[in-house]
Amino acid sequence: MRRDFRRRVVPTGYDAAVTVLDEDPVGGSPPAGTIRRIPSQGPETNSRETIMTFSKTTRRGALTGISVAALALITPFAAYAEDVVKVGLILPMTGPSASTGRQISQAVALYQAMNGTKAGGKTVEVIVKDDTGVADVTKRLAQELIVNDKVSVLAGFGLTPLALATAPISTQAKVPQVVMAAATATITEASPYIVRTSFTLPQATVPAADLATKNGWKKVITLVSDYGPGIDAEKAFGAQFTANGGTVAAALRVPLKNPDFAPFLQRVADEKPDALFVFVPSGFGALVIKQFVERGLDKSGVKLFGTGDLPDDDQLDGMGDVVIGLISTHHYSAAHPSPENKAFVDAYVKANPGQRPNFMAVGGYDGMAAIYKALEKTKGDADGTKLVEAMKGLAWVSPRGPMSIDPETRDVIQNIYVRKVEKVDGHLWNIESEAFEKVKDPVKAAKMKK
Ligand code: DHB
Repeated sequence: MRRDFRRRVVPTGYDAAVTVLDEDPVGGSPPAGTIRRIPSQGPETNSRETIMTFSKTTRRGALTGISVAALALITPFAAYAEDVVKVGLILPMTGPSASTGRQISQAVALYQAMNGTKAGGKTVEVIVKDDTGVADVTKRLAQELIVNDKVSVLAGFGLTPLALATAPISTQAKVPQVVMAAATATITEASPYIVRTSFTLPQATVPAADLATKNGWKKVITLVSDYGPGIDAEKAFGAQFTANGGTVAAALRVPLKNPDFAPFLQRVADEKPDALFVFVPSGFGALVIKQFVERGLDKSGVKLFGTGDLPDDDQLDGMGDVVIGLISTHHYSAAHPSPENKAFVDAYVKANPGQRPNFMAVGGYDGMAAIYKALEKTKGDADGTKLVEAMKGLAWVSPRGPMSIDPETRDVIQNIYVRKVEKVDGHLWNIESEAFEKVKDPVKAAKMKK
């Protein structure tokens, strides 16, 4: 089912107001979103929190005037441990996918700033680790976080191989693994402890194939990064577009590491399809655009389109006017017209001046929402099996729009929006026009039907 939006203007806080499309057919401004502030960091009143304050202070090496022995008498350290639920957040903070780590870690911090640090009566403490985007490192960090830091939840996972490498550890340790970024369809099948709050490539790609058909494009070339999500996108696009009567003239795969798109784009220039479908992971889109223009493809009449990973909100504004009019399908745009998104974007921009949140950020923000909501349901019981059970079937309104966790697959069910790049007050935005509602991962949905 599709929904149409009406155009309106909202201030974004991103140095501009942006024209967006209104969900409300009657029009008018939505109520302004409210931002709850983090509770004061001043002296705590209950003894358990005293231990928290104390432990933070001593870590910094400051003197508190209260002796260690005296505090130990007030509340044993065990109580501190029981009242804290630790989340091990493993992300590529450096390396080619560092923008994913930056976006997600900032959004996780923002979630706690906006919602407080308590859930189900427990204090949620986040420990961030940099895996540099290397799967062996992710795996080692996951083990250390479980064994040494006693985390109750693992989260993050910026790339598919990183999520897959950790899956056996989550299963063995019975620790929930909240996948906030990686998007290959099969990831949730790798462990019963995986819950995903990002998206799946087939989920975003099938609507892209329908869009291509709707635009009258008959011959398309696909160009994808040669690993899990790219192959998912290639297959999902090919199957849907062919079923619609279209032809995929070539399916090109580009290495993930140090990609050079130029020879592949030359092939596209020679073949002259109606359009070129592209999937590259977050952080690589600007390079594709640059090389597309260098080959003169922008003037050749070949339309460029893809999933929203290409016109990534993190890089979009720097891509230049050449991307105006580029269409894509995805679950999140920073220009999504809703009070929840306005509150999220405003707060993100305020906390991180000069930046705006992308789809990675919303995956991190909602990953925290899933953890908090599960802890509320279990009344603070951080047993891994109970937490995963509690996450199944959760539903809430995210900055992206309504979303839920499929109780059968632990994957995300969400709207996929059709978007077009437009320039509004000097900035480039992915402006949504219509939504495919409550889309499930089509790969798993097809398996369930069998
Ligand atoms: C994956 C990574 C991305 O940056 C992205 O945009 C989509 C998928 C992945 O590795 O699964």
